[in-house]
Amino acid sequence: MRTYYEDYAVSGVSIWSMLAPGRRCISLPSSVTACTLPTAYCTMEPILLAFNSSFSGWVIADFCPRLDITKDVLYVGDILENNIYNVGNMAKHATSAVTTAVGTPNIALIKYWGKRDYTGLNTPNNSSISMTLDETLSTRTSLIFSDKLSKDTLYINGIEEAVSGENIPEKSAYLKRTLDYMRKLSGTKENALIVSENSFPSSAGIASSASGAATLVFALSNALNLKMSLKDMSIIARQISGSACRSLFGGIVKWNKGSKADGTDSYAEQVFDETYWPELIDIIAIVDPSKKKVSSSIGHAATVKTSVLYTARPKFAEKGIYDIEKAVKDRDIDMLSMTIMRDSNNMHATMLDTWPPIMYLTDASKEIIYGIHDMNDTEGKCIAGYTFDAGPNAHIITTEKYRKRVNEMLEHTGVVRKALESHMGKGPRLLREDGSLIDEKALKPKHAKH
Ligand code: DP6
Repeated sequence: MRTYYEDYAVSGVSIWSMLAPGRRCISLPSSVTACTLPTAYCTMEPILLAFNSSFSGWVIADFCPRLDITKDVLYVGDILENNIYNVGNMAKHATSAVTTAVGTPNIALIKYWGKRDYTGLNTPNNSSISMTLDETLSTRTSLIFSDKLSKDTLYINGIEEAVSGENIPEKSAYLKRTLDYMRKLSGTKENALIVSENSFPSSAGIASSASGAATLVFALSNALNLKMSLKDMSIIARQISGSACRSLFGGIVKWNKGSKADGTDSYAEQVFDETYWPELIDIIAIVDPSKKKVSSSIGHAATVKTSVLYTARPKFAEKGIYDIEKAVKDRDIDMLSMTIMRDSNNMHATMLDTWPPIMYLTDASKEIIYGIHDMNDTEGKCIAGYTFDAGPNAHIITTEKYRKRVNEMLEHTGVVRKALESHMGKGPRLLREDGSLIDEKALKPKHAKH
């Protein structure tokens, strides 16, 4: 890597474009220094600054924060001590110290149900595969670190949630652990104000925790300028909520279960990007927006412990992943629909077989299940498939061609309170200052409920 830099340093700034094709490279007058640069080039985005010895000038290579930047960082990491200074944080302070990210839920096509670790690593018994949703459903998270904050504070949907002290919910404890870990990596000791809002009902089996945790880790990594890869972020997000690891990527995403005890090989990766099958849609049929009665964390453990049927599930799920990858590759809605329905039914069967039984599906969910089977029977093939997470609300995967047909069927069931539609999404992204949920001067959320 060092040679790579030295080879190209002599030919000026081209090193940067070689490292990352299409990236902007700007050579600056020698009067510009590391300190004046962030103000001169106000940007929310991370900047890498290099001193180019061949013509005694500073060179900046800025990059978009959507984290294929990891490649750059790895390349230059070796020479970081000598010539390259990361001034991302300084650059951010030149505009706003608040970092805001938006992220989205994912719907598992082959589900994660059952962990091999319950100490907070959330390593699963089987791999899973999902579709990341677009911003029809989203989480927005703003955060700021400041020495003026006396403690870490978290607001979700306008309400303050405790992150430390006795008897806090498990998820809040995991979130605090993540915050402490990432803060330590960055070297800062400042406290954080985190403000997060969902555009959809929380804890109703619409993956609010996945969307929330993935967006938080993405925002933290950028705010603290950690230059993490999406893969590394997925490993961290997994430890807040397992399914969150898949929401770090867009498109179709696989979570490899891994086998190491420390969870370092249990991460998510993109299998197909969001442009691969643009006609693919998820129609989310909300039949009950209230909170689920059994949290998925409790459900995972109870099923693994008591269900006789569960022993067959990990193998079944692994085969399902193979079938999903093939169905998406071939853009085959018939095979995709059949595979997701069978997997959803298989997971819910193990839930029912748990003792005492866990039942997330309601009569309304069953109406939708029957409606889809009747519709597919009439069509002579599967034109749509349902899948249910830990809740009664249906995700119906189909293509634009069959949208009208599916919506008519849903209407006919009479059980759907609201239907939303999502294509494949791109994964999390940073928002500019005007999207902030934090009043930076007052160090308070803009829309807190009291
Ligand atoms: C049914 O990710 O919510 O949605 O790791 O305990 O936070 P924890 O569980 P969670 O489980 C999600 C289960 C599921 C299937 C899936 O999304 O794969």
